[in-house]
Amino acid sequence: MSRTLTVGVVGKGGAGKTTVSARLAETYAARGMRVVAVDTDSNPNLGLSLGLDLATVDALPALPTTAVTGTRTGPGSADALLSEYGTATPSGVTLLTALRVAEAASGCQCGGHRTVRSLLGDALARSTDVTVVDMEAGLEHLSRSGGTLAHADTLVTVVEPTRTSVVTAGRTQALAAELGLDVVLALGNKVRSDDDRTYLEQACADQGVRLVAVVPFDEAVAAADRGGGVGTPAPGVQAAVDALVTALDATVPARRGADRS
Ligand SMILES: Nc1ncnc2c1ncn2[C@@H]1O[C@H](COP(=O)(O)OP(=O)(O)O)[C@@H](O)[C@H]1O
Ligand SMILES: [Mg+2]
Repeated sequence: MSRTLTVGVVGKGGAGKTTVSARLAETYAARGMRVVAVDTDSNPNLGLSLGLDLATVDALPALPTTAVTGTRTGPGSADALLSEYGTATPSGVTLLTALRVAEAASGCQCGGHRTVRSLLGDALARSTDVTVVDMEAGLEHLSRSGGTLAHADTLVTVVEPTRTSVVTAGRTQALAAELGLDVVLALGNKVRSDDDRTYLEQACADQGVRLVAVVPFDEAVAAADRGGGVGTPAPGVQAAVDALVTALDATVPARRGADRS
């Protein structure tokens, strides 16, 4: 791939954003790309899905909200931030934790969102081939003063076969378009039957949402989650993620920032 790719993974709470972010990041890493996975959830779990143990995840350094990148080199550059705050995970993906609520009711995370926006908008794009951003549930990150994801190339909306999930995907797409982010792909998740698949295909078509692949409900994913490990996902899970990667690759000409190299 000649250009960097920044993918924001969005969707309703529990839809599978973290699971999909981890599998997507690992799939790119397995193809030899330099991949950074950014956890922007204030309750960060992406590290667990990337194979780190709980003690490591709880001790992960969070990016300071003052870490605003504006230069290519030196303190504050994405390279410096990556080496100071990035954590290597077993698959080779580098994990960055952007937000962490250490104490209950610690208030607004705007500083953290600003950091993510700044990182995405600047040098992180030059230090990596692919950046996958696991977003907190909700649509706030698409609206907060320009949107945390204003610099993402592409959004992946994770949708379960439920009406609320698909409606959320439709709203997300509309908000993203307002930000000038036109490339929004939907990935179905936790599909248990042909009926689920048919429903998702129809409901996404009704909402104008582009469904590119469907991840089956996989007991191994659920069990791994309960057991605190990663486990071996069913072949259907990887096949869907591979199809997503193919769809993402096909969006290259349509991506904003086509002048970046
Ligand atoms: N394809 C799947 N099959 C089975 N369980 C899944 C699947 N995708 C996600 N899950 C489970 O659903 C729960 C929510 O997933 P998660 O990725 O944490 O969602 P989110 O980040 O959107 O809140 C987790 O327990 C996870 O293990
Ligand atoms: Mg999550």
